[in-house]
Amino acid sequence: MLQERITQIKEEGEKALQAVKTTAELEVWEVKYLGRKSELNDILKGLKDLTPEEKRVVGPLGNAAKQALFTAFEKAQGTLLEKSSDFEKERIDVTAPGVPAPVGHTHPITIVENEIQDIFTSLGFAVADGPEVENEHYNFDALNFPKDHPARDMQDTFWLASLNPPAGGEGGFEENKKSKEKYLPRTHTSNVQVRYMETHTPPFRIIIPGRTFRNEATDATHEHTFHQFECLMVGVADEVSVATFKYVAETFFEQFFGKQVNVRLRPGFFPFTEPSFEFDISCSICDGKGCPTCKQSGWIELGGAGMVNQRVFEAAGYPRGKYQGFAWGFGMTRLAMMKYKISDIRLLMSGDLRFIRQF
Ligand code: PHE
Repeated sequence: MLQERITQIKEEGEKALQAVKTTAELEVWEVKYLGRKSELNDILKGLKDLTPEEKRVVGPLGNAAKQALFTAFEKAQGTLLEKSSDFEKERIDVTAPGVPAPVGHTHPITIVENEIQDIFTSLGFAVADGPEVENEHYNFDALNFPKDHPARDMQDTFWLASLNPPAGGEGGFEENKKSKEKYLPRTHTSNVQVRYMETHTPPFRIIIPGRTFRNEATDATHEHTFHQFECLMVGVADEVSVATFKYVAETFFEQFFGKQVNVRLRPGFFPFTEPSFEFDISCSICDGKGCPTCKQSGWIELGGAGMVNQRVFEAAGYPRGKYQGFAWGFGMTRLAMMKYKISDIRLLMSGDLRFIRQF
């Protein structure tokens, strides 16, 4: 009898479903009990050939059995899916914290440059800029370096092969060929002094941070490419004196290092300052006790300083004797070394990410 067969199929199906352990097995089960070619489906398809009385009984029974099997199937499917490892893998925990995007590091020289700019702007200084490829005039002549004088060798210069422009050379090289001007990567930031003064009238106070280049043998404190920052403060008559210089320098060091540091002035010579000083600070790597970085002296030479030579004012077009000011050029790279206790200058430009990641 059809009714009995339907009940049998339903019970058999439910029982078989309990033995199903994998999704593959479930698929086989689905084809057998709910598929288009399943026995139950055949019975339901055959309803049309039955008598109305039979239809009334078999129809609802067959549909109920199909519905019951389908519900059981969906439940089994849900349970299997939850158990499968794929489901665990694909599960999204919306409360988990995100993976942070990698962020780069600011180079210690840049950190120091920004700090210096902050300190000086708070003291009313402006920040000026100038070219890294400079001509002999601004790097040397206008700063009172005598022509063909050994003072020019004081700063071992990389001369650019300006009189031998490459075939089809253009820009600076072509211009250069006509003017016979000699070009060089600037040996100091002092090249911007006269450039700035040509377009500004005192009083003013500026700093000029930037990259400089020298043809030097490298060691723990010397690099061919390094950073300096120039300070230039000029006032009318004796408004800006040696006392001003001392005050600005002390204020800067105190703010930069967050404590007092020992400084030492030695008499020096620069054609563009008179008097001139060599400026040292106590070595922070060894606290002034002596180490390989300071060559056992306890002091690090930071740069030069002095009162601006009147001949530099004249080169800028200022009348002689009208203004007075001070200037210095300090090694920004060396300041970074002293601040972060970096014992070898060559680490800074090494491009070694293990080094950079520490800042
Ligand atoms: N330009 C000098 C140097 O690089 C330093 C300096 C700057 C000295 C300004 C005096 C005044 O050695």
